[in-house]
Amino acid sequence: MSTESSHSRIINFGAGPSALPVPVLEEAAKGLLNFQGTGIGIAEISHRSKEFTSFVENVSQLIREQLGVPPTHSILFTQGGGSAQFSAVVMNMLARYRLLHPEAKPEDVDMDYVVTGSWSQKAAEEARRLGGGNVKIVADSRGHSATGKAFDNIPPHESYKFSKDPAFIYYCENETVDGVEFSHDGSSPTSFPFHLLPQDSLVPLVADYSSSFMCRPIPRLADHAIIYAGAQKNVGPAGLTIIIVRQDCIVDVDAAVKCGAAPVPITLSYKTLFDSKSLYNTPSVLAIYMTGLVLERMKKMGGVEYYEELNRKKAGLVYDVLKEGEERGVFKPKVKARSESWMNVVFDVLGDGAERRFLEGAAQRGMSGLKGHSCECVVNGIIAGIRVSLYNAITEEQAQQLVQYCREFIEQETTA
Ligand SMILES: Cc1ncc(COP(=O)(O)O)c(C=O)c1O
Repeated sequence: MSTESSHSRIINFGAGPSALPVPVLEEAAKGLLNFQGTGIGIAEISHRSKEFTSFVENVSQLIREQLGVPPTHSILFTQGGGSAQFSAVVMNMLARYRLLHPEAKPEDVDMDYVVTGSWSQKAAEEARRLGGGNVKIVADSRGHSATGKAFDNIPPHESYKFSKDPAFIYYCENETVDGVEFSHDGSSPTSFPFHLLPQDSLVPLVADYSSSFMCRPIPRLADHAIIYAGAQKNVGPAGLTIIIVRQDCIVDVDAAVKCGAAPVPITLSYKTLFDSKSLYNTPSVLAIYMTGLVLERMKKMGGVEYYEELNRKKAGLVYDVLKEGEERGVFKPKVKARSESWMNVVFDVLGDGAERRFLEGAAQRGMSGLKGHSCECVVNGIIAGIRVSLYNAITEEQAQQLVQYCREFIEQETTA
């Protein structure tokens, strides 16, 4: 990429698809013309070629190494995004439960959902739509908000009511729309309550890590049955979904049908993906390639530990200026203390026309993607507000530029 074109790039604080590192984009541009010296571009090469199949294996290895994925878990790649996993999780885990309990009636099967924001709510709705068991909302942030309607907190540990033997327990680690995230400090009241889970060595715990995958280490990774994420926030372009799945959850879904489970579409079956090494059908070759380049770069930079420190700093800077703005009556954070996301910082700009002024000023300084999630957000006349997404590719310097602008804005609003 020429210097001119990289200089003309703006800072993209969008929530996804989102910023990717410029060196990766430059490398990918070369790969589009000639993948690893094959003379064929990455978007043109066969997904069954030895060059590409070994590339896929390396991508898997890069995730395994950096996150410390144990040998009990496989790493699978697929398409369909987080939304397809809302369905795949339900179908595969109900098939697993059926094989373990062939006599169970659907009314006896519980699917436990922890609802802390729009995405876990959507996942629970999909489970309800698919049927095959009872969707139980075992904790809900809204009940702990001032209005009874806001996803602005992680519920207190004492409020969780897990079922005794659920088909699975589902949570979303970082709620991208609402900016609510579980603390990674196990002693915090806003951490995920691992200690309250059924005492079984194979707890069927499922986590949506779509917007926090690879931004820092995953707490208690080995205690999860499934962790999944779309690539398009921290690690690549849209089109690739990564699933880390414990081997007991890769079940013969057709055998489960014989015991009364619903058939699982072949491309949603984890066993299909596992048996075919994630190459049952044509995968999203370009997205896998670019994700591989991002992961290689991450490794060189120091892995998830490096990004944890970087992301801690970036989030700290932005939350600090938010606090300054709050004290001056300019900004209002939407999320309660200790439930705030590192990746998606959400707040309101107070005053008539102030949000528009904030966004216009940001645009003039070459910053975009700051408008909050727009669908279904006009609740009780409240607009979406601002959302700053601080994924891995956002540098500390870029976060500083935003902070600098926020300070100027606070001054401007309070002296006008
Ligand atoms: C936390 C979370 N889960 C699920 C999804 C849905 O992902 P997709 O659009 O890839 O289906 C998103 C999308 O932004 C998300 O942020």
